[in-house]
Amino acid sequence: MTEKYASKTGKSKALYERAKKVLPAGVSYGIRYFEPYPFYTARAKGSKLYDVDGNEYVDFWLGHTALILGHSPPAVVKTVKEQLENGTIYGTSHELEVALAEQVVKMVPSAEMVRFTNSGTEANMYVIRLARAYTGRSKIAKFEGGWHGGYDALHVGVKYPYDIPESAGLTVGTLQDTIVLPFNDLEGVKTKLKGEKVASVTIEPVLGAGGCIPAEKEFLKGLREFCDEKGILLIFDEVITGFRLAPGGGQQYFDVEPDMTVFGKILGGGFPTGAFCARREIMERINAQIYKRPNCSFHGGTFAANPITMTAGLTTLKLLEDGKLIDGLNKLGGKIRKSLTEIFGEGKANVQITGAGSLFNVHFTKERLGDPHAVARVDKEKLLSYDLALMENGIFFLPGHNGALSTAHSKDDIEKLYDETERYVKHREK
Ligand SMILES: Cc1ncc(COP(=O)(O)O)c(C=O)c1O
Repeated sequence: MTEKYASKTGKSKALYERAKKVLPAGVSYGIRYFEPYPFYTARAKGSKLYDVDGNEYVDFWLGHTALILGHSPPAVVKTVKEQLENGTIYGTSHELEVALAEQVVKMVPSAEMVRFTNSGTEANMYVIRLARAYTGRSKIAKFEGGWHGGYDALHVGVKYPYDIPESAGLTVGTLQDTIVLPFNDLEGVKTKLKGEKVASVTIEPVLGAGGCIPAEKEFLKGLREFCDEKGILLIFDEVITGFRLAPGGGQQYFDVEPDMTVFGKILGGGFPTGAFCARREIMERINAQIYKRPNCSFHGGTFAANPITMTAGLTTLKLLEDGKLIDGLNKLGGKIRKSLTEIFGEGKANVQITGAGSLFNVHFTKERLGDPHAVARVDKEKLLSYDLALMENGIFFLPGHNGALSTAHSKDDIEKLYDETERYVKHREK
């Protein structure tokens, strides 16, 4: 099958050869590399990516799931163009950051105050510092399979096997201070945290990179109660689920309120962003007018709340606020999970489609997937072969990763996904 890909992507191959000399692995983010080599994108619009060889792809990766309105949505392009003429970074306070913070507070149930960052990683970093400052505790906890960006303290227990360091260069102290918990297993959480004093527990309401596995509602409710009992701050990492599962994110979708929330991706309207929020009492720990050194928890950044990101984010959130677009995408997500299951032949095909709302992933296994251990046992080679087959025929999922929907996807785009999946299944059965 790779022959077909190679025959269509000659210019990408040449670019890859150039790239390898100056970018490790030829890419700017390891996960963007895939076999035999990645294609290089020339432009994107709506639901489509176009590579340097002129191939068109229906894009279900959507900029790491950030583009809920598709590529370059007209409303966002308009406000960004206007803003480009009025300054791209002020390095001073301005009204758009106030307006976007107000918008987040309006939409997100647990948010009373907000601070902006430039990525989800950065937001997770600052929120952990704040949790430590607020509770006076050093240790933190996170879940197996949970991906929160490359910040040392949370770059632990991400991939199976969960007990070896994720990266070279992590200090012993980092590894000792982070406790890794079993997902969707409340008793397991209680056992792991017995006798420990942790500042926070960070969880994705839907494990993203860990396989698109939703947390069980009862598990989240139990976790909420347990954290209350123990004085632990519950942090929802809603970098993927925020403004996607519901206008108020996973916390609204699952009806469980965290103490602190981290956002990214969709919040930036297609531009680099992150944010963290919580109730006033916690967030005020950042306020140097109230808390003096060493009691103040620092946050800042040159590009934090730059007006380009703020206006793109504000335009996007206003479009999502009434929930109508999100409801439509969630219904379509449910339909896609059902239709793909049928196309793969229900139980007999050893395929499970996981996900929630407008997020989904295909796993080649018969096993019910309720936690990342089960995901670690799926047939990854088959998934890569499915993703590559789709790619050769004009559909893009970053191989092995989740699919997401945008309001730019058309009926034809979805039909194409079904048709090409059918073709893949038939080819495989031969
Ligand atoms: C749940 C979650 N948290 C945090 C991050 C890190 O965000 P960023 O890549 O913007 O640093 C990601 C990125 O994929 C994510 O999926």
